[in-house]
Amino acid sequence: MKYFFILGNNPALSLAEILSVVKPKSFVLLSEEFLIVETQVVLNPTNLIDILGGTIKIGLIKDELVISNYKNKIEAAVIQIIKNRQKEVATGKFNFGFSNYSNLDLGHLGLQIKKNLLALEINSRFVVSRENTLSSVIVEQNKLLRKGVEIVFARQADSIILGETLAVQPFKSLSYRDFGRPARDDKSGMLPPKLAKIMINLAEVKKEKLLVDPFCGSGTILSEAILMGYKNLYGLDLSVKAIDDSWKNINWLREQYQTEPVSIKFKVKNVLDLAKFIKINSVGAFVSEPYLGPQRGKIEFKLVIKELEYLYTKALEQMYRVLEKGGRVVMVWPVFYGNKFVNPRIGEFRQISLLPDNIKNEEVIKKQISPRGNIIYGRAGQKVFREVIVLEK
Ligand SMILES: C[S@@+](CC[C@H](N)C(=O)[O-])C[C@H]1O[C@@H](n2cnc3c(N)ncnc32)[C@H](O)[C@@H]1O
Repeated sequence: MKYFFILGNNPALSLAEILSVVKPKSFVLLSEEFLIVETQVVLNPTNLIDILGGTIKIGLIKDELVISNYKNKIEAAVIQIIKNRQKEVATGKFNFGFSNYSNLDLGHLGLQIKKNLLALEINSRFVVSRENTLSSVIVEQNKLLRKGVEIVFARQADSIILGETLAVQPFKSLSYRDFGRPARDDKSGMLPPKLAKIMINLAEVKKEKLLVDPFCGSGTILSEAILMGYKNLYGLDLSVKAIDDSWKNINWLREQYQTEPVSIKFKVKNVLDLAKFIKINSVGAFVSEPYLGPQRGKIEFKLVIKELEYLYTKALEQMYRVLEKGGRVVMVWPVFYGNKFVNPRIGEFRQISLLPDNIKNEEVIKKQISPRGNIIYGRAGQKVFREVIVLEK
């Protein structure tokens, strides 16, 4: 089966996550947002979009036209996709929209299709936006998935690819969790739920295994893990307030989302004592955003980096002892002012490269890769970027 994935604003991280979760037979990155994935198995895009943090849309590739005469063929190909879809949805006005991810000019294709549909006695509405592509919000608001169709176009070498969108990112729910949770800690910072999901997925750990966040803050990672179906969770933090906040947020989440029962514990503990209260070789994975140093004001980065290197080195020693063989640590380390890195010792851990080397060198990916080959997350102008680190025992 051939699918397309529209990637989020950090394509390197979105791609790494898809490789971890979908494990495709092959893939082609057409641009910084358009990925084609070939799989041996049939995917369930509606479930998958809820699991992935870095994907905006998922759909099926429906047709491929050679570029030399696509103008003669494109109307018929689009009509065919619409007719098939229209048979499946209830009667009434049929909404359709286009997202053009290629550099081809589609002219007045939408209006032409609308006319053709009328001749076929299909009453339709063509959904447009100012951009070449429709946002998830527009797709959702115009019910294109439930009662209509969104067709996407992309260019691959000498072909134009036509796809049908099957799922879009649940943007309302993600932002509700980000801004609606009862306990927020703007001082030590909170991970965006999307990044929490991506980090959990990069751990590639089974749902029943023990997943630990040893710097849990207000519990973002463990909240997302519950929604993703993880069953055995443990959060630790040095701060009493953080543990209180985590409980508040988890209880809120359980109520709001009516989640399945899971085993979850929180304790006020120092990460440096991990091996004193967690059994050796018992943890499936650690997923954590540790203390990243001060986020505001002028950063005395030399001092901060030294302090963090000590904390992370010691924390990793402890994690190594309690982690089972093959278990992963997924962490973010800060990068100050875009180029000042921390270098803790990783001991016997093996560092995992999230992307194949040839992909890391592609123009659209290169800018998100640190000099030591890891993916960087952050927006221009931020003081502290995050470097995504994956280690395996
Ligand atoms: C950046 S925050 C984590 C935020 C969290 N990811 C969230 O989204 O809410 C880092 C946390 O590490 C905790 N911390 C700092 N040093 C620690 C230590 N030695 N052991 C355990 N927790 C520690 C802090 O109290 C803080 O809550």
